[in-house]
This record gives sequence, C-alpha cells and structure tokens, in this order.
Amino acid sequence: MSAPPASTPRKRHALELFAGLPRHYDRAGAALSFGQDPRWRAALVAAVPAGPSDRVLDVATGTGMVAAALVRRTGCRVVALDQSPDMLAGLRARLADDPLLAERIEPVTGQAEALPFADAAFGALTFTYLLRYVDDPAATLRELARVVKPGGPIAMVEFGMPPRPLLRAAWRIWTRIGLPGCGRLLSRDWQEVGSFLGPSIEGFYERVPLPRLAALWEEAGIGDVRVRRMSFGAGVVMAGTRR
Ligand SMILES: C[S@@+](CC[C@H](N)C(=O)[O-])C[C@H]1O[C@@H](n2cnc3c(N)ncnc32)[C@H](O)[C@@H]1O
Repeated sequence: MSAPPASTPRKRHALELFAGLPRHYDRAGAALSFGQDPRWRAALVAAVPAGPSDRVLDVATGTGMVAAALVRRTGCRVVALDQSPDMLAGLRARLADDPLLAERIEPVTGQAEALPFADAAFGALTFTYLLRYVDDPAATLRELARVVKPGGPIAMVEFGMPPRPLLRAAWRIWTRIGLPGCGRLLSRDWQEVGSFLGPSIEGFYERVPLPRLAALWEEAGIGDVRVRRMSFGAGVVMAGTRR
C-alpha cells in the first residue's frame, strides 16, 4: 500500500468543492448534463460483468449512484470509497432508505492514491470523475489496478470534449456560459462547480489526451482497453481487464 498523498492545492480544492453538493447532487448532475450523465453511468455498469458472489470496489463513489446501480444490476457487494465525508454522508442517507443497498454497500473514507486494501482484494473496480482531481493520474491508475484480481473488469466514466469543431465550439459556450449560469440558479456551491468544470475538463485533456490516458491504463497493468465516446464525445466510458 502507498503512503497517504500530500495535501496539495488540487486535493484541497476537491475536498472543498464537494462539501456543499450532496443534497441535490444526483438530480443536479443529471440536469446539468441534459440527462446524459445517467446514461454514461449505465454504460459503465454494463461494462462490469460482476455477479452476486463478487466484491467490487467503487472509487470516488460520491453519493453512491454507481454503487447502487452495480448492486441492483448484478447483486454484488460494493465497497464504496470516497475522500469526502460530506459526499459519503449523502451515500449513508441513501442506504438508510434502502435495506437491500444497506446490506450490500459498505462506505469507506479513503483516498484513491493510497487505497487501504491488500493487493488483488477485489473482483472488479469502477471509478467515476476521479482523475481530474488527482495530481498524478498515472500513479493513481497503478494504485487502482493494484487492488484488482487478475482478469477482473475495470471501468471508468469521465467527461469528454466533442472532437468535431462545431460541437466543440457549442460545448465551450455551454461550459463557459450555460453551466455557470444554471449553477448560479441552484446555489453558490453549484455556481462554483459550473465555473470550474469546463476549464477542469480542458486542462485535464491538455495534460493527458485521451490516447495517452488509454496508454496509462495499459502501463498500469490493465489490458484490452476500450474507449467509448458517448453524447458526441461529452462523456467517455473506458473499460479494460486487470492483467
Ligand atoms: C463528481 S463526483 C463523482 C461521484 C459519483 N461517482 C458519481 O457518479 O456521480 C467526484 C467524487 O470524487 C471524489 N474524489 C475526488 N478526489 C478523490 C480522491 N483522491 N480519492 C477519493 N475520492 C476522491 C470526490 O470527493 C467526489 O465525491
């Protein structure tokens, strides 16, 4: 297991950013993505062929939407890890309302960069909207892969940027003007998220273009990597298998 990561500006910002979001997170996320983000999450879950006897790790679980969908679709058990106590409080509220989920999902506070688990402890792994918040995506991918059994499926969702120029221009207008404006209608916290997301997504792909990201998966010990662009490229679902 790795040493806990230092508290860098990027990591502190991620903790602050999500502190005020859990209450309206599920509905606001769907609305601000024009209903697309639930589709991306469903594609992610469909890419994880788990069964009732499997133990799956869901990293950056937030309020647990992926964890809940995994349980409902496959009957597996999920360890749901996030670094934000506030987002995990949202997950605990979900579990309090649903005995099946409460029995199958275990919330854990922790950091993706230093997972508190033994090597090959899980049959499968999912993570959503995580890599933009870590300082070293390559090292984090190695740490994520470490805890998955050989042959185990690994899948992720991240925002993307439409590759076609006209759609890219429309995406830029939406993320720079539409998102902050709509966020402002919800709350100050959502306004901050709305202003942050566009530059965060573009900055990430400047640092790690999509083909490079797929190569980092391979270098982390994940084979058979498939990249699926959805919603004209605004969403990216990646899946592979632990070698
Ligand atoms: C946009 S939310 C995604 C939540 C959820 N997976 C979903 O599908 O909506 C990103 C989550 O990543 C968590 N996060 C960010 N950096 C993290 C890290 N280094 N380790 C663990 N969780 C992290 C945040 O606390 C937040 O809950």
